[in-house]
Amino acid sequence: VPTKATNVFEQEHKVSREHRGRILGGRGQFRGCTIWFTGLSGAGKTTIAFALEEFLVAKGVFCYGLDGDNIRGGLCSDLGFSSEDRDENIRRVTEVSKLFADSGTVSICSFVSPFSKHRDFPRQVHETSNLPFLEVFVDTPLTECEIRDTKGLYKKARAGLIKGFTGIDQAYDVPENPELVVKTVGRSVQDCVQDVLNVLVANGILT
Ligand code: PPS
Ligand code: ADP
Ligand code: MG
Repeated sequence: VPTKATNVFEQEHKVSREHRGRILGGRGQFRGCTIWFTGLSGAGKTTIAFALEEFLVAKGVFCYGLDGDNIRGGLCSDLGFSSEDRDENIRRVTEVSKLFADSGTVSICSFVSPFSKHRDFPRQVHETSNLPFLEVFVDTPLTECEIRDTKGLYKKARAGLIKGFTGIDQAYDVPENPELVVKTVGRSVQDCVQDVLNVLVANGILT
C-alpha cells in the first residue's frame, strides 16, 4: 500500500473478528461484508440498496448504505467526475466500506464505479482483509436509464451541459464476473432485493 507517511506502525486490535461476531453478530456469527452495487446512473442502485437496507434493519441486521450522491456531499466533496477523481472517490469509499465490514456491519455501497478497476480495487482490498465482497451489477440498459432520467442528468448530458457523463461521453465497463446480475426492467424493487438476499444466504451472511 503506497503511503506518504513513514514511521507508522500497524496497531493490533484486542478484539478478534470471531469475538466481535460472537458478541455483536447475529446468532453469534460475524456477518460483516460489503455489497457493492455498480451500474449506470438511473439503473436502480440507490433504490435497491436502500430497500435492502430497510429490510435488513427491520430484521435487526446492522447495515449501512454508502451512496455516491451522499458521499460526494461530504467525504468526497472535493472531487468531481474526471477519471482521476472517480479513482480517488472509489479509493476512499473502499476504505470506509472495509472499516464498516470489519466492524461487523453489512456495508451497502452504491456507486456508478464505471471502470473495471473501480470494482477490482475494492474486491482486492476486501479479499486481502478476508472480508466477503459481493459485486452486484444492476443491469439496466442505457435506453431505459435515459427514459427514466430521474434527475434530468441525461437530458443535460445530451445537451452538452454535463461533460464526462457515464454512458454518454464516458465509458462504463460491463462487469465480467459479478456475484450477481440484477435486471430491473419489468421487475419490482422487491424482486430485485430478493435476488440480493438469496446471494447473502448462499454466502452464509444471512440464514
Ligand atoms: S463514481 O463514478 O462511482 O465515482 O460515481 P458516484 O460517486 O457513484 O456518483 C455518481 C452520481 O453523481 C451524479 N453525477 C454523475 N454520474 C455519472 N457521471 C457524471 N458525469 C455525473 N455527474 C453527476 C449522479 O447523481 C450519480 O448518481 P446515480 O445514483 O448513479 O444517478
Ligand atoms: P441509480 O442510483 O442507479 O442512479 P435510482 O435508484 O436513483 O438509480 O433510480 C432508479 C429508478 O428506476 C427509480 O425511479 C426507480 O423507481 C426505477 N425502477 C423501476 N424498476 C426498478 C427496479 N426493479 N429496481 C430499481 N429501480 C427501479
Ligand atoms: Mg443513485
